[in-house]
Amino acid sequence: MITALAETRGATQELVAPLSDAQLETQYTPILSPLAWDLAHIAAYEDLWIAHRHGGEPLLRPDLAAMYDAFETPRPLRGSLPLLDAAGARAYLDEVRARTFDVLGRRGEAGGRWRGLWPRQRDGTLVELVLRHEQQHAETMLQALELARVDGYVPVRRDPLPFPPRGAVADDPLDLVAVPGGPCLVGAPAAGFAYDNERPRHRVDVPAFRIGRRPVTNASWLRFAEGGGYERREWWSDEGWAWKEEYDITAPEGWSGDGREWRITGWEPLVDAAPVCHVSWFEADAFARSLGARLPTELEWEKAATWDQGTQPEATLGQRAFAPAPAGSRPGSASVYGCEQLLGDVWEWTASQFDGYPGFRAHPYPEYSEIFFGQRMFVLRGGAWATAARVATPTFRNWDLPQRRQIFAGLRLAADA
Ligand SMILES: [Fe+2]
Repeated sequence: MITALAETRGATQELVAPLSDAQLETQYTPILSPLAWDLAHIAAYEDLWIAHRHGGEPLLRPDLAAMYDAFETPRPLRGSLPLLDAAGARAYLDEVRARTFDVLGRRGEAGGRWRGLWPRQRDGTLVELVLRHEQQHAETMLQALELARVDGYVPVRRDPLPFPPRGAVADDPLDLVAVPGGPCLVGAPAAGFAYDNERPRHRVDVPAFRIGRRPVTNASWLRFAEGGGYERREWWSDEGWAWKEEYDITAPEGWSGDGREWRITGWEPLVDAAPVCHVSWFEADAFARSLGARLPTELEWEKAATWDQGTQPEATLGQRAFAPAPAGSRPGSASVYGCEQLLGDVWEWTASQFDGYPGFRAHPYPEYSEIFFGQRMFVLRGGAWATAARVATPTFRNWDLPQRRQIFAGLRLAADA
């Protein structure tokens, strides 16, 4: 666990290393934080859960607790507070980490499970929670960088840019695979780490359906846009149309209008076969309607994401390539039903609103998931190239408002059988 903590911290530091202090301290958009806030928030969260709650120590910086609490200080306010500067945030991270190692070492728990910590949920570990929290904030920081179009940011690519499809790949968003009806188990098993909203695992009866073999591509989206996708009222929900009109939305976030898109490092030609990215739920819904299809429910998605022997297939994850792999370039990712690239590349919007599974119990705190239930947030599944492999499991549930486009999110289509 110590190794995993250190590796995660190394990755976080590598991600922000190319940025100047001024870039770290700027709030580029009210829907995301200044990156220096994320860094200090990672430290505050770790200190709260490890040294304070678990180790019984006083907080290292009680004066900062409210400012770096995600709920007490909503995102729009974060740019106007007397936040720690970049150097201060780095020092805070270092000091907290020293306390973490001290507490873990003292309790002799650095490598083991902390049974009994959550009486109802004995399989969780606080270290795992803290670790994944940092990894998820790394993805949030990448969202901010991409949305802000920070010039000259060059990340360390561990994998080459995604390879082209092997052979010709039919680019058809309506290439759907059939999934038979019948009962299946959804949610995370009782053993091992999982978030509260993935539990309890339960049996559902999903009627037969069809679902996209691959994610929807840029080429398909271009056909939608050029075919009046953003002008045909009948393809849009009332709410989606109102949002599109108010913000004059005519293409995915990051598209230039002349065949290029902003990727993390700058303007690049649109890759036809790449999964479309940075579309809102409203846009995804309109795209599906334009083809007489719909988005899959999250239970359909999870059923389609079934692999043999509990193994996970190859996937573009973990901030290694800094781009999604083209649709069709990962035949080894096929699930039992033949769905490819369910994990990685881009998050996939589903038709389902975020809510608790039957028998849900909050842990370790209601603010992780429960306060978002019933808020008309839509569920995304599968993770993106920017998501840590540890986080992107077939049962992991992400959620956001239907108008949001900062997520590395696309879609695949579905239809009734
Ligand atoms: Fe957080």
